[in-house]
Amino acid sequence: MGVRRTVLAALGALVLGGCGAGAGPGGSATQAGEELFTAQGCGGCHTLAEAGSTGTVGPDLDQALADRDPAFIRESIVEPGARDAPGFPDNVMPRDYASRLSSEELARLVDYLAATAGR
Ligand code: HEC
Repeated sequence: MGVRRTVLAALGALVLGGCGAGAGPGGSATQAGEELFTAQGCGGCHTLAEAGSTGTVGPDLDQALADRDPAFIRESIVEPGARDAPGFPDNVMPRDYASRLSSEELARLVDYLAATAGR
């Protein structure tokens, strides 16, 4: 009897764990990235069709990131002053995303943008 109980408990944990992670199959990783994009206020300043945002304070990410690799995207988020986007103000994008976001959140956001911007 004891063994059977243990197996059932393990199965239950698997099922529960599978739902909460947010990176499971079928678009939930994209959804988690979009939630971060919205919750962090990125959409208030940036246009991104996938997220339905139309901000114009910063560059249109569908154009700016269409051909960019994840390393560029990551750097643009954690160190917005490192490069100049021509025609946009230098000191507007918050400088503290590196401390506001966990490394998992940052990775998820970068993956999301790499997968969706300009697509
Ligand atoms: C208060 C407005 C504001 C917010 C909020 C904001 N940004 Fe920005 N962002 C800007 C501006 C302005 C620039 C141009 C910066 C420069 O030229 O130095 C920029 C630049 C960028 C770039 C580089 C684009 C390029 O052409 O080089 C990326 C990528 C980016 N932002 C992504 C994000 C993401 C992701 C978030 C949310 C985590 C975010 N931004 C939040 C205003 C904002």
